[in-house]
Amino acid sequence: MIPKIIELPKIYDKRGNLSFFQHPSNLPFEIERTYWVYDVPGGEKRGSHAFKEQQEFIIALSGSFDVVINDGKEEKSFSLNRSYYGLYIPKMYWRRLENFSTNSLALIVSDKPYSESDYIRDFDEFKTLVNGK
Ligand code: TYD
Repeated sequence: MIPKIIELPKIYDKRGNLSFFQHPSNLPFEIERTYWVYDVPGGEKRGSHAFKEQQEFIIALSGSFDVVINDGKEEKSFSLNRSYYGLYIPKMYWRRLENFSTNSLALIVSDKPYSESDYIRDFDEFKTLVNGK
């Protein structure tokens, strides 16, 4: 699988709209962990790393930010700015979150518990691993 935008159901209601995701209909993995990133100062970047095993799904629950994905050869930027779609990222993609708007809220769900040993934090190491050199 490759990184892709997943559109979520939208239940329109004059009392306020509702969206959701659940495995397996909207999400390709079972959720083991949920975390969120908030109060990001202007100009800051988060999450410059890849994961050896975990997959993630990222939603801009509020505000907007960009997720820049690198497969070891090229970069692609996804702009997240609505709460009814998100970006699915399989394992072994370098990703960086940037360009956060004021009061933005990034919700991230993962199929693995937190484990520092699953992180690849060195971009050259990541490139070597994915390009097999
Ligand atoms: P990290 O994923 O490195 O954030 P970023 O890549 O955006 O800078 O996480 C920052 C710190 O938070 C890290 O030292 C460990 C801790 N952390 C947890 O304890 N549990 C978690 O689920 C996450 C995502 C991070």
